[in-house]
Amino acid sequence: MLFTSVNRSFQVNINIKETIMKTKKLLHVIFLSSTVLCFVGNAVGSEKPALKDVYKDHFLIGGAFNRRLVSGKDPNAAEIAIKHFNTATPENDMKWLLIHPKPDQYNWEPADRFVDFALKNNMVPIGHCLVWHGQVPRWTFRDDSGNPLTRNELLARMKDHITSVVGRYKGRVKGWDVVNEALNDDGTLRNSQWLRIIGEGKPEQEYDYIAKAFEYAHQADPNAELYYNDYSLDTSKEKCDGAVKIVKYLKSKGLRIDGVGIQLHGGLDYPDKESLDGSITALAETGVKVMITELDIRTRARGYRGADIGRINRQSTSDSNADAEQTQQRLAQKYAELFSVFVKHKKDISRVTFWGVYDRTSWIGALPCCLTGTISPNRLSMP
Ligand code: G3I
Repeated sequence: MLFTSVNRSFQVNINIKETIMKTKKLLHVIFLSSTVLCFVGNAVGSEKPALKDVYKDHFLIGGAFNRRLVSGKDPNAAEIAIKHFNTATPENDMKWLLIHPKPDQYNWEPADRFVDFALKNNMVPIGHCLVWHGQVPRWTFRDDSGNPLTRNELLARMKDHITSVVGRYKGRVKGWDVVNEALNDDGTLRNSQWLRIIGEGKPEQEYDYIAKAFEYAHQADPNAELYYNDYSLDTSKEKCDGAVKIVKYLKSKGLRIDGVGIQLHGGLDYPDKESLDGSITALAETGVKVMITELDIRTRARGYRGADIGRINRQSTSDSNADAEQTQQRLAQKYAELFSVFVKHKKDISRVTFWGVYDRTSWIGALPCCLTGTISPNRLSMP
């Protein structure tokens, strides 16, 4: 029994080392691709350059950090992050459920640690996320007797939350995902409790909850950048049009919006270059910055292409053949292709953030997904 578990832990250590080596290789592949594509950087030496240096004249490069990374329990992830990233997003610890679990209780410690870690390591901290239908406690929408709140009561609760969270990190968090995933894939507004209660079923109030969230966030930190963030903006023209509509609505009300986050949870054959290019162009034409906020690529992608954790997770995306050379080659080529589009749009794109740091801690499954590649750079055929 003891032997088995020692043996297992030995195996786990080997796996961690392998994963990290693979992660480093893929980072090198991305570097190589971009170097060839945009003619930056010097000759490729034996010491792998940091991604943040490669792209220093283009956009910030970052990752989503979990609690273990920022608390020092995952030194491998921290090492990769410190070397390669100059911006950071908390994967979960600023979401309503985690930071404000009970009406009168805020859990600041993990989020404080995240912000401290980012600033200490010269990374620009980004706040994720203030208003979302996911990871929000039930009590948010109910009164003490369990009855649904009225529009005014929910607006007051939203204001209190945003004022407390944004206010606490005023001057330290550079920008906030103010509203996350408000859209259906056809570009209409998702039928969330935010919409139902604050919109009260009246078409003229449909966008009210989004507008109020941006208004409250701006009041709490007038210097913070404010973003709308969603998935499938890169693959669905209708959904991208929906995001354009949100930006235009906010601007028509005189509200601040600085950027739109294209999450970009991709697969080996999506998004295609044209579609991604079209989305970045359409969003940038509204006058805001575009950010790639949650980049990863799943190698097993059948059916649903979105990022709803209720429909996909580690199990459904895990791919036991992911290590196959052909798959790894396609993975590396896909990253190279995506980065070629980002570089083309460097004037419009302010940040590229991977959703995770390495595969073992990614929300999508097993091997490989966000940052793993086994391909040797000299076998990479450039797109
Ligand atoms: O905190 C609990 C812990 O107490 C419990 O022991 C454990 C057991 O499963 O669960 C922990 O909560 C998990 C949480 O992550 C924190 O680790 C949830 O089960 C799990 O569902 C949750 O998943 C997160 C997911 O958002 C929730 O919607 C993923 O880590 C996170 O990567 C993912 O991120 C989202 C973005 O915020 C928005 N865009 C899509 C993206 C992927 O779904």
